[in-house]
Amino acid sequence: MERGSAMDDFVLQTYGMTKEFKGFTAVNRVDLNVRRGHIHALIGPNGAGKTTCFNLLTKFLEPTHGRILFNGTDITDEKPAQVARRGIVRSFQISAVFPHLTALQNVRVAMQRGLGTSLHFWRSNRSLDCLNDQAVGILDLVGLKSFAGMAAVEMPYGRKRALEIATTLALDPEVMLLDEPTQGMGHEDVDRVMDLIKRVSANRTILMVEHNMKVVAGISDAITVLARGAVLAEGSYAEVSDDPRVIEAYMGSAANDELVEAL
Ligand SMILES: Nc1ncnc2c1ncn2[C@@H]1O[C@H](COP(=O)(O)OP(=O)(O)O)[C@@H](O)[C@H]1O
Ligand SMILES: [Mg+2]
Repeated sequence: MERGSAMDDFVLQTYGMTKEFKGFTAVNRVDLNVRRGHIHALIGPNGAGKTTCFNLLTKFLEPTHGRILFNGTDITDEKPAQVARRGIVRSFQISAVFPHLTALQNVRVAMQRGLGTSLHFWRSNRSLDCLNDQAVGILDLVGLKSFAGMAAVEMPYGRKRALEIATTLALDPEVMLLDEPTQGMGHEDVDRVMDLIKRVSANRTILMVEHNMKVVAGISDAITVLARGAVLAEGSYAEVSDDPRVIEAYMGSAANDELVEAL
């Protein structure tokens, strides 16, 4: 079987993706080409349109213009649930993790949701055991095996974010969208989450919005830089960080000192 043709290389593509809010263009004719198996970073100053892009890709927002393709299939007119079923899943916000359930229970609930709980499935104890083993495996993957019995509410912040990623992984997404996975974390947690993203990226594609340039430089295979809703640059970290337009876009934006420092 012939694999790796031009079509096969991209799992997610947008053509002219545009979102207008009452005449304000938040996302402006964005062409994204996310290669299969890549960790692809979407970066840009605050207000550049990154979160809006995520909302468009997961269909929480309707694009004003443009098309979205998943594995070559046009999914522009699909509903969020359809897109999620296809395997494009955005990491839940912390609030979506049940605070009084343990880490293990949270992953199991997420797996059940992914399976669409059928009654006869639950009658079999063997299915339950099998589910447990898989849930423990996922916790292990994100470094939370020793936290399995701890209630989410008791977990330190960085671990809670890792649990959020675990509940997303429970759905076995083909494309995982992470919006600022290291936000608000100290150095140690950032390093740990960086490692875990790298680990969970095996056999899947990751599109992440990330402000921490150490993370972007450390694990991205490709980067798209947005500014004022439009694509400003794309390429490897070396390529985009060397681009004068990128440096200029980040200047004067106090919240983005990190990139300027990193350049
Ligand atoms: N629902 C909305 N209504 C109006 N304007 C919005 C809405 N969502 C986002 N915007 C505007 O679109 C721009 C891009 O926002 P956003 O995608 O959140 O940027 P980023 O995630 O890159 O910081 C911002 O100027 C923001 O104020
Ligand atoms: Mg945002």
